[in-house]
Amino acid sequence: MAEGLNVAVVGATGAVGNMMIKVLEERNFPVSSIKLLASKRSAGKKLSFRGKAVDVQELTEDSFDGMDLALFSAGASVSRKFAPIAASRGCVVVDNSSAFRMDPNVPLVVPEVNPKALKNHKNIIANPNCSTIQMVVALKPLHDRVGIKRIVVTTFQAVSGTGQKAIVELEEQVKAWSQGKPIEKKVYPHQILFNCLPHIGSFLDNGFTEEEMKMLNETRKIFDDPSIEVCATTVRVPVFYGHSESVNVELKGPLSVEEVRELLESAEGVRMVDNPSAAQYPLPIDAAGSDLTFVGRIRKDPSVENGIVMWIVADNIRKGAATNAVQIAEILLRENLLKK
Ligand code: A2P
Repeated sequence: MAEGLNVAVVGATGAVGNMMIKVLEERNFPVSSIKLLASKRSAGKKLSFRGKAVDVQELTEDSFDGMDLALFSAGASVSRKFAPIAASRGCVVVDNSSAFRMDPNVPLVVPEVNPKALKNHKNIIANPNCSTIQMVVALKPLHDRVGIKRIVVTTFQAVSGTGQKAIVELEEQVKAWSQGKPIEKKVYPHQILFNCLPHIGSFLDNGFTEEEMKMLNETRKIFDDPSIEVCATTVRVPVFYGHSESVNVELKGPLSVEEVRELLESAEGVRMVDNPSAAQYPLPIDAAGSDLTFVGRIRKDPSVENGIVMWIVADNIRKGAATNAVQIAEILLRENLLKK
């Protein structure tokens, strides 16, 4: 395996799949061959890897023969059908969809938080939801120090999280507005330009959306602590890249703002930007293109004992998806957890 792995990217023409290809290049992941897979519609299209044009192929059941690793980001139904096929052929899957995240046999991993969960994988590993990843990266040091009792989170999520079509929809609405033309919507139920939609995923019987319930269930699984309470409101905003979150965390014990700052200053994958008097705080525009999770506006919540409030921002396509998946693959390789 010294010469590298045979790697497949499923959903290579999509927003996350494209970024997976870029991140593999940037991090110099040892790839000996790459297979770029998408739907039939994209077969024959060309994408670039390490300066060479690579044909996109249609995803089929035989796509995984001879492959060591597959990074999936083509939606849950594609993963549900094809990830088990890949896994049964000895190809380890890192899946960015929600298909297997809550499966007790599938590790749900954020490398800075619970890399040890990878040890027992059965050829499928799930990449968490983008909003959950950045939140747990920032909260991990606080959880390790005193424990988390409850989280109240409101998100401000970029359109890229919905996929390439939604990026195009926002661009087209900007163009239409600037030309005085009628604004059309196809992806979202309402105009996203100049708007905020408190609606990500379908609504469930309890009044929450799927995205909101992901933040609860995935946080518990990643921290391996079913006692943590999470109340989330997830909101789509007219931002292209970078999710922002207002996070109010109730801890199990006291931590001063100074102690939180110290913990976050040395936390893996975190960058503190917290100088409000100089108008310095995390912004999606600054986080876009970075693999770090930015934290600022750290303050004490005066309304509850042991409460801390913070503002957390990360690039949802990178740390929230593609980079997290490639980091998982790097650990699998380093710890000899491929080709079992
Ligand atoms: P395609 O471009 O051929 O439709 P995004 O999340 O940005 O919308 O991207 C979704 C990705 O998933 C795209 O690469 C898309 O390919 C791919 N995809 C969607 N449906 C399928 C399918 N049935 N089989 C394979 N790939 C699919």
